[in-house]
Amino acid sequence: MSPSHPTELRGHAEKLIRGRRATRAFRPDPVPEETLRAVFALAGAAPSSSNTQPWQVEVVSGSLRDRLADALQAAHAEQRTTVDFPYREDMYSIAQQRRRAAFGTALYGALGIGRNDHAARAAFDAESLRFYGAPHVAFLFTAGDTGDAGDAGDAGARLAADVGIYAQTLLLAMTAYGLDSCPQGLLSFYADTVRSELGLDRGKLLVGISFGYADESAPVNHITTDRAALDATTTFRC
Ligand SMILES: Cc1cc2nc3c(=O)[nH]c(=O)nc-3n(C[C@H](O)[C@H](O)[C@H](O)COP(=O)(O)O)c2cc1C
Repeated sequence: MSPSHPTELRGHAEKLIRGRRATRAFRPDPVPEETLRAVFALAGAAPSSSNTQPWQVEVVSGSLRDRLADALQAAHAEQRTTVDFPYREDMYSIAQQRRRAAFGTALYGALGIGRNDHAARAAFDAESLRFYGAPHVAFLFTAGDTGDAGDAGDAGARLAADVGIYAQTLLLAMTAYGLDSCPQGLLSFYADTVRSELGLDRGKLLVGISFGYADESAPVNHITTDRAALDATTTFRC
């Protein structure tokens, strides 16, 4: 059977898509440069509107990664947050808020943090700004160009959709190459700090993705997440 036979491909896709999961404790071992280049080259095959590829990807490693982690800790301590894409708690429906709460229970439960221990939860979130110990972090920016800051206004949501599709392609490429990852929306709340440490003056920060090799001994890496029933999110019409 050729590897591109649909049945075989389906098996690979099931493994790849269902085999990826968010990792929140990493070993410090760096990823070889050759693997890094192969993974990001593969991710670049992501589709985009009219093939515009409106993403700017910054892969941060080594001493710059360490300096950035320190700068993020300082920004957090001083409550210096800046977002390029607005966030609102009430953008989520009640059903979505329930899913988020169930996820929080699983996550903080695995960490041994009690339901009402807000201080411990906040401390864990702050520590996550060190990329969960990952040796690398990729920052995904939208790279539109309607002004000096690359600000496409409301139309920026369209660029963000393309970058979101790139993000999932990247996560799957990492999985295929044996890398573990965690998309971290939290990093996008420190957009100015990230830009400043990376010496950037444009691009809107959508998400950061920490990656490397999972510390399999960490209980936090063994939580499972379920998904809504198909009919709850998808309607087939004819
Ligand atoms: C856009 C986006 C932002 C996320 N932000 C965070 C984050 O800030 N911190 C974190 O620990 N996980 C974050 N995650 C990971 C999600 O919590 C995780 O994907 C979800 O719970 C499903 O679990 P799974 O990835 O293991 O399947 C984010 C995921 C996405 C797609």
